[in-house]
Amino acid sequence: MSKTVGASPLLMGERAATGGYDASGIDADAWEVLEGQLEATIPNYDRVNTWMTFGQDKRWRRNVRNHAKPGMKVLEVGCGPGSFAEDLVGMDLTCLDPSPEMLATAQPRVDAARASRGEGPAEYVQAIAENIPLPDDTFDMVFCLFSFRDFKDKAQGLREIYRVLKPGGRLVICDAGKANKLHGFFGYLWMNSVVQVMARIITKEKNHPWKGLAASYTHYGTNGYYRNMMRDVGFSDVQGRLLYPLGMASRFRGTKPEN
Ligand SMILES: C[S@@+](CC[C@H](N)C(=O)[O-])C[C@H]1O[C@@H](n2cnc3c(N)ncnc32)[C@H](O)[C@@H]1O
Repeated sequence: MSKTVGASPLLMGERAATGGYDASGIDADAWEVLEGQLEATIPNYDRVNTWMTFGQDKRWRRNVRNHAKPGMKVLEVGCGPGSFAEDLVGMDLTCLDPSPEMLATAQPRVDAARASRGEGPAEYVQAIAENIPLPDDTFDMVFCLFSFRDFKDKAQGLREIYRVLKPGGRLVICDAGKANKLHGFFGYLWMNSVVQVMARIITKEKNHPWKGLAASYTHYGTNGYYRNMMRDVGFSDVQGRLLYPLGMASRFRGTKPEN
């Protein structure tokens, strides 16, 4: 399937002045372009992530993974090619992603890892976070790793995650960090310079998909903005900060109150 990885087509949505993005979400037409770019990253996804984070991505994933315990019923929203899901050990796992190509990559990878540990296959759901086709009060834990930034409507995605969590269940989000506007400026420079050079070297393509993905960071909000959004949706014990001081990733946590 061919992918649009270069310049965006003319955007007609309500956020047109920013190419279709703002901190609350992404216009439908800009999101379609972004999805194409995300799918085009699949062959090089893990390698570019490791290079652009100097190997820190594995540490971040381990930190997030440690929030769940064997036996839990877990949903990963935006599972992508399965980079996080494959290492969730001993869990009743559901992987959700809107992209059939991402799911087709994740399924054999995650199920092979599970089979090697004597576990049965995970469940796979093709859907967006904003409209999760699963029942209320189902999961002990929901994870979003590097997918929250890509939601079309972040508040609606959080409302749906809240709905499918059991009372007392927790959401953990990890994404590129923006502690405040100054930190965001350095992140912007990083995404638009070093990451671009690394992606070009690894993919050997001038028009690689990381060109467009920098836009989702440019218009992403600060930690404070999303902490407030999580509280507005109803999460309690909301925390959201850089995972490690001066680092590149942020982690948000929130709990669905027990009635
Ligand atoms: C960068 S990948 C993240 C992959 C993986 N979670 C990881 O740990 O690396 C982002 C994923 O989010 C998915 N995504 C984009 N928009 C989404 C939405 N509205 N709801 C759920 N997932 C979405 C994309 O299809 C893509 O697979």
